[in-house]
Amino acid sequence: MTTDQAQLHQQLIDRMMIGGSLRTEPWRRAAAAVPRHEFLRGGYFRRVAGPQFHSAWEPVHAGDPDWLDGCYADESLVTQIAGTIVPEDIRGPITREPTSSSTLPSLVLRMLEDLQVEDGHKVLEIGTGTGYSTALLCARLGDEFVTSIEYDPWVASQARAALGHLEMYPTLVTGDGLLGDGAGAPYDRVIATCGVRTVPAAWVEQTRPGGLILATVGGWLGSSELARLTVHQDGTASGSLLGGGVNFMLARPHTPPPLGLLPDLEDGKERETAVGADVLNNWGARFVAQLAVPNAQRLTLERDGRTEDVLVDVDTGSWAAVYSEGGGRWLVRQGGPEPLWDAVEERFGQWCAAGAPAVEEFTISVGPEGQSIGW
Ligand SMILES: C[S@@+](CC[C@H](N)C(=O)[O-])C[C@H]1O[C@@H](n2cnc3c(N)ncnc32)[C@H](O)[C@@H]1O
Repeated sequence: MTTDQAQLHQQLIDRMMIGGSLRTEPWRRAAAAVPRHEFLRGGYFRRVAGPQFHSAWEPVHAGDPDWLDGCYADESLVTQIAGTIVPEDIRGPITREPTSSSTLPSLVLRMLEDLQVEDGHKVLEIGTGTGYSTALLCARLGDEFVTSIEYDPWVASQARAALGHLEMYPTLVTGDGLLGDGAGAPYDRVIATCGVRTVPAAWVEQTRPGGLILATVGGWLGSSELARLTVHQDGTASGSLLGGGVNFMLARPHTPPPLGLLPDLEDGKERETAVGADVLNNWGARFVAQLAVPNAQRLTLERDGRTEDVLVDVDTGSWAAVYSEGGGRWLVRQGGPEPLWDAVEERFGQWCAAGAPAVEEFTISVGPEGQSIGW
């Protein structure tokens, strides 16, 4: 097992270096010092074919024949489902949403490289998860420079145990990472391994001027991008999106509310639209649409023999149902106080008129008026 493990570990490092996610010697040393399987001793879940539109997950337990290979595969491994269920709880498949995972190592290392840390930097991590990325930070900077916050007490306790097993003792906080860690501020770097809809003001306040915040900014239409912001003397922060279509589970307080009872989708005004619902299937275009209607959720319904893409804002009750008439003709029916598809059309039109810039050309700023993303 030791030889296998060492070989698998080295192969993973080699692949990350060849792939360009692991780019510098200090992070190569850190990656070599942290065995990922130590953070997955509780097992993980593997995706299996499930009912339409849902993923099913089956447990892989430590000691199962392919457990170790999975630990060193460059894949995200789900470690908790529905906020409480862990691999040892079940034997067969389950179809609920993942709530904690070990992120794929190449993304973890890419982000740590993108964080541009230097010796002596104090780092705040949001989303300890298994503790794997926390361990990499400890190996790179030293335990005393690392604070990590995990929302879920059980997940946090498992991470603490795994880190302790490797004799790593960073500051571990259990709580809502969106509030940051005022006690340890100011930080040189803040990194989030859960997604956010908006970069919290607390992170900006707790980062020293010139410091960096690295976080995945996403939303309820399911598109997200990695953003890196520099904090300024005046207490604002600005930066750009780094691209690559990075996707993380949203921070728990940022997850969407239940859809509940749908509004009456017959009771609306119908018209033709030049922007078809197919734009929502493109990651970049969907990101733009999400900026226009940040509180909308999407569902797909089969109605009257056709497929309708429906956006619903459960707070306001606004909705839009978009469907194809064939031959490139699209219709939209909208109801509620805010015409959601009008907003999507407007923002999408502006983006197209600007030449549909790539997300790497987008800028992001956070200030007293909140967050703004544009191009
Ligand atoms: C993708 S996992 C983290 C992966 C982890 N860094 C690793 O290497 O294993 C995201 C984690 O963020 C946690 N999380 C979600 N919302 C949070 C919040 N508001 N504050 C702190 N942690 C949060 C989840 O419980 C989950 O464990």
